[in-house]
Amino acid sequence: MSIKYQNILIFSVFLWYNSSVLVVIIILLLYHYYERLICINANCTSSAQPANDSIYIDKVSYAYFKLDTNDYEHIIMIKENGMSIRPLKELQIGDLIARIPIVQGGMGVGVSMAGLASAVANEGGIGVIAAAGIGMLEPDGYTNFLEACKRRLRAEIREARQATSGILGVNIMVALSNFADMVTTSIEEGIDIIFSGAGLPLTLPKFLDGNHKTKLVPIVSSGRAAALISKRWLNNYNYLPDAIVVEGPMAGGHLGFKAEEISNPGYSLEMLVPEVIKEMKPFVDKKQKAIPVIAGGGIYNGEDIYKFIELGADGVQMATRFVTTHECDASIKFKQAYLDSSVDDVLIIKSPVGMPGRALRNEFIDDVLAGKKTPFKCPYHCIVTCDYQNSPYCIAIALMNAQRGNMKHGLAFAGENVHRCEEITSVKELMDSLVKEYQEAAQNA
Ligand SMILES: Cc1cc2nc3c(=O)[nH]c(=O)nc-3n(C[C@H](O)[C@H](O)[C@H](O)COP(=O)(O)O)c2cc1C
Repeated sequence: MSIKYQNILIFSVFLWYNSSVLVVIIILLLYHYYERLICINANCTSSAQPANDSIYIDKVSYAYFKLDTNDYEHIIMIKENGMSIRPLKELQIGDLIARIPIVQGGMGVGVSMAGLASAVANEGGIGVIAAAGIGMLEPDGYTNFLEACKRRLRAEIREARQATSGILGVNIMVALSNFADMVTTSIEEGIDIIFSGAGLPLTLPKFLDGNHKTKLVPIVSSGRAAALISKRWLNNYNYLPDAIVVEGPMAGGHLGFKAEEISNPGYSLEMLVPEVIKEMKPFVDKKQKAIPVIAGGGIYNGEDIYKFIELGADGVQMATRFVTTHECDASIKFKQAYLDSSVDDVLIIKSPVGMPGRALRNEFIDDVLAGKKTPFKCPYHCIVTCDYQNSPYCIAIALMNAQRGNMKHGLAFAGENVHRCEEITSVKELMDSLVKEYQEAAQNA
């Protein structure tokens, strides 16, 4: 063969080899692109949500995906060939991203401390330490209340931080007389989020000094309150809430409703969530700041979570369900009272602090209702609005007794659905089951 033909042959082989490689690359790219197209578009036509919120799974047994749509989204799913699953989206509050959009509601006087909060944060939710009455857990809590509160809050935040790298918050009721102390201590300790309700936290942003990245999240019971706080923060501090928790009338603890509003469907959480979203929209538009809305109060299972996400909520706040976990910081007797409760045991009390509260009926409450008084010396006027001189008992002491398991003299706050709690599980088991139930609800929708 002449040199000329030899060269042509070598060139042809070279060309053939390279074009084959090119073809293979093109096929691979097309396959990858096609697969993404299926993923993003499949089976979503019946969904009320945008098409790119559904995903088609045919390969994974348990996957944890990121899609490049909008803000990138984490998607949790289970295997089921050809199944379209609405993802449980992460909850983003500023630069914080909770993989699971569940906030564990703060539970005061020792019920949600470092143990519970860190366990929830470790599972991808937001764990919350409650500041109310926290100093009563200290030996000098009755004699040196203010210092004891600061010391214990600092210690609980540090303990929780040691136990998790997840997101941690502190719940600080506006009505606490040491509100400012609790806020400054939390910010100094670098807490991720402050949740604040039981009053309007109108001055909360003034505590931020610019050096700390603590997020501020008001807890409200109406769209009006959400708008009022936002307007005041914007005017006075050029700051908008980083998220809003809207707590409906089925929640446990003190409620932001008049007694007659509690069972009025016009005040249901289903009504409140769209109302708060609507009220917040002008602020979101004006400042181009995402302000997630988190729904709480009576949310019991994954189906409930699905319902409120469908209504437009970005996440949920749940408290009662977290009491019946091993990690909850209350005594086992407190948890057992939840397990033993029936639907008739849940009642609304007139709390000495001037708000209605939802609690479990027991001997102590029956005595109060029968007019029996438990004389006490107010150790510290811990709630600004507390009418302690005329109250038949000290609510802080009664809550502390219950937390310690002295149910005979104790008051246990609980949400409307407490009677449905059946067993004590780990936080992980609870969170996993909530996610699974959510997926089932999404699938059946
Ligand atoms: C035992 C208990 C104590 C609570 N303590 C507080 C508190 O200190 N501050 C607060 O803002 N909310 C408090 N709450 C309300 C919860 O944070 C939460 O928003 C509410 O209970 C959600 O409803 P759910 O319990 O039905 O999930 C408490 C609730 C319970 C059950």
